[in-house]
Amino acid sequence: MKQFISVHDVSDIDALVSKALDYKSDPLKDKKLGENKRIGCLFLNPSMRTRLSTQIAAQNLGMDVIVFNVGSEGWALEFEDEAIMSGKTAEHVKDAAPIMGKYFDILAIRTFPSLKNREDDYSELFIKQFVKYAGIPVVSLESATLHPLQSLTDVMTITEEIQKSKPDSYRDRVKNQRPKIVLTWAPHVKPLPQCVANSFAQWINTWGKADFVITHPEDYELNREFTNGATITHNQDEALKAADFVYVKNWSTYTDYGKIYCNDPGWMLTNSKLKLTNSAKVMHCLPVRRNVELSDEILDNSNSLVTEEAANRVWAAQAVLSEILAPLP
Ligand code: CP
Repeated sequence: MKQFISVHDVSDIDALVSKALDYKSDPLKDKKLGENKRIGCLFLNPSMRTRLSTQIAAQNLGMDVIVFNVGSEGWALEFEDEAIMSGKTAEHVKDAAPIMGKYFDILAIRTFPSLKNREDDYSELFIKQFVKYAGIPVVSLESATLHPLQSLTDVMTITEEIQKSKPDSYRDRVKNQRPKIVLTWAPHVKPLPQCVANSFAQWINTWGKADFVITHPEDYELNREFTNGATITHNQDEALKAADFVYVKNWSTYTDYGKIYCNDPGWMLTNSKLKLTNSAKVMHCLPVRRNVELSDEILDNSNSLVTEEAANRVWAAQAVLSEILAPLP
């Protein structure tokens, strides 16, 4: 694997998931693979899970790790080509990225969208400029529009859940019948990026092993590039019927970009809504606003997979880094 920016960098999702599950059962089996290799993890925005899990994953492979909070501790970076840098930015990515390419063997980057200009955010300028100028493999730790490490973890968590189900129940039933996965919008107090929802839709559609339904209020349509293949409905109750997995996430509007329109608390998943499902397992990427996005009664219930899902971030990151390290000189 040359880079990990989206699902398009993955030739076989199931094989990558299988690799992640192998690392979960034997974390140090490739301890020598990353010997004498160094990864730089650059954060232009905050993180807890991605930051810690990627560090642990790299260390499990024997790599050295340097984390740089470039957003709060580094020089303000300029990303536009031919910019006249008379404003707030102090260093061009064209100068910074090649240096990082000399310091590291792999560069991992987290950048959020501005949510001010859709064309700018969806051009993915920041991560593309790092890819262009670093000269080494780049891993997305979440970009302006996608969060592939989260989505790989999500497919892994769903796969694991199916595999460990009792033979006479879920696993038997889905042998000939695909699991129903529902991505539902949830309320939030501020406009959030579409990254996790875009990426989840992109991965589930590409994986192709589920009946996939997306439900959200009117005006929250996502970019069709990612959702094509899914059934989309504004009727949450209808969507939840017989669901096996419910993935909960807020996102701001895509069409009239970066806004909050409807913020109806009725869209928050509760135990009474869960009764419509097939005792669905509930997922969320975290962090979550309790009793705004998801109720205590769901998060503190055995149907919730959120802790296992976050724990699985380590194995997903380890599988990706290992695929990148394997062909490195
Ligand atoms: N889910 C996720 O990416 O969490 P962090 O923002 O804490 O990394």
